[in-house]
Amino acid sequence: MEELSLEKYFNIKDIPFKTTVDEKYYFQSIQHTSAFNKIKYLIDRMGGLSVLIGGAGMGKSMLARKLIMDLNPDNYEVGLLIVIHTGIPGIWITRQIAKLMGVDIGSFSNPDDPILIVTELYKKLMELNGQGKKPVILIDEANMLTNKDQMEELRGLTNLEVSGQKLINIVLLGIPELEDNLKLDPPLAQRVTVKITLGPLQKSEIKTYIQHRLSISGATIDFFDDNVYDKIYEKTKGIPRLINTLCYNSMVACVDLGSTKINSDIVEAVAKSSFSNLL
Ligand SMILES: Nc1ncnc2c1ncn2[C@@H]1O[C@H](COP(=O)(O)OP(=O)(O)OP(=O)(O)O)[C@@H](O)[C@H]1O
Ligand SMILES: [Mg+2]
Repeated sequence: MEELSLEKYFNIKDIPFKTTVDEKYYFQSIQHTSAFNKIKYLIDRMGGLSVLIGGAGMGKSMLARKLIMDLNPDNYEVGLLIVIHTGIPGIWITRQIAKLMGVDIGSFSNPDDPILIVTELYKKLMELNGQGKKPVILIDEANMLTNKDQMEELRGLTNLEVSGQKLINIVLLGIPELEDNLKLDPPLAQRVTVKITLGPLQKSEIKTYIQHRLSISGATIDFFDDNVYDKIYEKTKGIPRLINTLCYNSMVACVDLGSTKINSDIVEAVAKSSFSNLL
């Protein structure tokens, strides 16, 4: 027998509960909206260095993507840097930031020359300043920045100023470990203007979050029983990635059972088998 795809079974155009970050699914949760507004406020005032802390799967990368989408390129020069390794040298950070701001590192006689990189970055930031554009660098997975060399590099970047005004906004995004890491470098920790915490969805938001994702995926019938939402909250504590995983697996289980609706028994069974020990 041909296996039914989720799309066919539920008559949807796209899988609504993937764990990848796709900004078309962005949901304006209370927490996300508050964090977004705080970051935007800081950027608009050239606040310098800020930190967004949130547990795993809370939606930090999603928020970064949303900021990139929403900040108008006429007024902001936005770049996203993802730290992929704890051992990256400090100069790598500055080089990447310079590239993201539009410095042509490729034309340098020595692309590793730290003074040249910083000089050219400074020139670029002054140029952007002159054009009235606000430079923003989002550093995702910033909890992977753990050593002195990396911290010093960041500190140097936050010191770039003109007539008492910061020349670049840096937003560090990471899991709570990031805060502990910053403590290892008190001068850098002191430069953090604002620390923002991203929390989970509230219980009252679970249904709207799920329905929002369903409608974007093209769902025309509601295949979630009304009694599932409290159960989903109980099993995920409102953490978006866990909600997505639970909903996705519940859809698969629903197909396996040949059921038309996802009810709380399905959710309970799926939660038990897939992530009972994650919370
Ligand atoms: N506001 C939101 N609207 C819609 N989906 C969201 C939202 N927040 C998170 N998600 C979804 O939850 C999942 C996890 O989000 P994301 O990857 O952004 O978390 P994270 O905080 O960056 O996690 P990690 O610490 O592991 O990097 C993704 O599938 C994402 O699409
Ligand atoms: Mg992330």
